[in-house]
Amino acid sequence: MVARIWTVGLQGIEGYRMSVECDLSGGLPAFDIVGLPDASVREARERVRSALKNKGLEFPLRRITVNLAPADTKKAGALYDLPILLSLLVASGQVEGDFSKVAFIGEVSLDGNLRPVRGALPAALAARAEGFQAIFVPADNAGEAALAGEGIRVYGVSSVDELADIFRGKRKPARAVPAEITAPDYTGMDFSEVKGQQNAKRACEIAAAGGHNLLFSGPPGAGKSMLAKRIASILPEMTPEEALETTKIYSVAGLTGREQPLICKRPFRAPHHTLSPVSLAGGGSDLRPGEISLAHNGVLFLDEFPEFSRTALEVLRQPLEDGVVTISRASGTVQYPCRFMLVGAMNPCRCGWFGHPSGRCTCSRAAVESYRRHVSGPMLDRIDIFVDVPEVSFTEITSKSGGQTSAEIRARVDKARKIQAERLKGTGVHCNAYLPQAMIERYCALGEGEKALLRLAFEKLNLSARSYTRILKVARTIADLDGSERILSVHISEALQYRPPQF
Ligand SMILES: Nc1ncnc2c1ncn2[C@@H]1O[C@H](COP(=O)(O)OP(=O)(O)OP(=O)(O)O)[C@@H](O)[C@H]1O
Ligand SMILES: [Mg+2]
Repeated sequence: MVARIWTVGLQGIEGYRMSVECDLSGGLPAFDIVGLPDASVREARERVRSALKNKGLEFPLRRITVNLAPADTKKAGALYDLPILLSLLVASGQVEGDFSKVAFIGEVSLDGNLRPVRGALPAALAARAEGFQAIFVPADNAGEAALAGEGIRVYGVSSVDELADIFRGKRKPARAVPAEITAPDYTGMDFSEVKGQQNAKRACEIAAAGGHNLLFSGPPGAGKSMLAKRIASILPEMTPEEALETTKIYSVAGLTGREQPLICKRPFRAPHHTLSPVSLAGGGSDLRPGEISLAHNGVLFLDEFPEFSRTALEVLRQPLEDGVVTISRASGTVQYPCRFMLVGAMNPCRCGWFGHPSGRCTCSRAAVESYRRHVSGPMLDRIDIFVDVPEVSFTEITSKSGGQTSAEIRARVDKARKIQAERLKGTGVHCNAYLPQAMIERYCALGEGEKALLRLAFEKLNLSARSYTRILKVARTIADLDGSERILSVHISEALQYRPPQF
C-alpha cells in the first residue's frame, strides 16, 4: 500500500506544498529515499529507524521506498523527518486516518522526541495558503507557527509516540496559541545614557524620522558606537506585519525558538568588518539570509566603515536600493527582503585624530586621503546624513543626565512618520528617504526665498546634483519633525549641516 503524507518545502521565506509517499514491498529489507534529497534528508532514514524502535513502534522490515514530490526540486533539511516517519506508520498500518488536509513538519531525534526546525512560521503560512486545515509541528515551534493566524490550526507535538496516539484516537492534540507582540524593552540602551553630543543626537532623530542612512565620523571614544546602538530604540515600534515579516527571516535563519518565537524588537545588526560578502548578503549551500536581511525593518550598523572590503560594500548597493536581495546558487534562487537603515561609523583617519585640536594625528595627508578613499563614492551616495561626533568635554561626561530619553525622542519620530505615511498614502513609499525623483519634485517644492538660499549654498559650497536631492529629502524630514507643511529656510539650513565632508 502507498501512503501519502503532506508537508511543506521552503524556498527562502516562501513555502510550497510537498508530499511524502511511502511504498512497502516484498524483498530484502531496504530503505530508500528518492526525489532529490540531500545528505541531511537522506540521513532521516537512521533517525526514523531509531526513533520508532525507541518509542516502541515497529520499523517495518520490508523494502521501503519513500518519494518526495515534486521530484524535480532539491530537498534539504531535517524538517521532513516527521512526515517520512508518519508515512511509514501509515503504510505499515500502525496508524490510520484522513491525512489529506493536514501537513507535518519536524525533526526527529534518535530517542523519538521532536526537535525544533528552521522555518516553522513560513511553513505554517504556506500550509494555510495551500488550503490545509491543520499543521503539526514540534512543540518548541508551536508558538511561532501559530502566528500564521486563524486560517489554520497549529498543533505542537513533542514525540513520535504522542503523534501516533493522536491518530489512534488515544489522545487529543493541544492547539497552539500564538506568541503575543510585547512592547520591546530597551533598558540599558537608552539615549539618555549618552552624555553631550546634542548635534549627533539630533541627527539620529532626523535619520530615524525619515528612514535616512547615516554616517558618523569622529575620534575614538567619542560615543559613535554608543549612539548607533541606540538608534533602534527611537524608531517607531514595529507593526504586526513588520514583526511577522522579520520573524519569517529569523525563523529561516534558525534564530527563533521557544524563548523568542516572535521578533518584536527592531533588529540591530552590527557585523564585524572582516565578514564575507556571503554572510553580509546571504547565501551558502543552504541559501541562508545574510546580515542585511537579518536587519530587515531595523538597523544595519557598519562600525569602522572604511575597513569593510570594497566587495562587501559593493554587495550592499543593490539591496539598499531595492529592499530585497536575490541570491542565486547551484542549489536554487531565493529572495529575502532587506529594508534597513544603514548606519556607519568611521574615524576621520587611520589613527583617528585627524582634525583634533590637540594635533595628535600622526597620519600624512596622503594616508588620510587613502583611508577615506576606501569608502567608495557610490556607497557615500546612498548616505543622506553625515555627522561629526567630536570628543565629549569633561563637563559633559560628568554631568548627571544625558538629556532626553529614547521614549521622548521616539514620540517625535512617531509623529513625523505619521505625517509622511499620510502624505505618501497609496504611493508604495513609506518615508522620505525612499522618495523617488518624481516625488521629490512634488513633495519637496520650495518657495522663492528657500530656493534663493539653496542657490547661494550651491554656489558657495560647490554642491553636486546628488547632494541637492539629498538636502531636499533631509529638509523634508526636518520640516515634518517641525510639523510644517512647507519646507522653510530654517529646515534647509539645518539640512545643509549634514552634507558629506569634502573627501
Ligand atoms: N557621549 C558619551 N556619553 C557617555 N559615555 C561615553 C560617551 N562617549 C563615550 N563614552 C564612553 O566611552 C566608551 C566608548 O565609546 P564608543 O565605543 O561609543 O566610542 P566610539 O566613538 O565608537 O569609538 P571608536 O572610534 O574607538 O569605535 C563607551 O562605552 C562609554 O562608556
Ligand atoms: Mg566604535
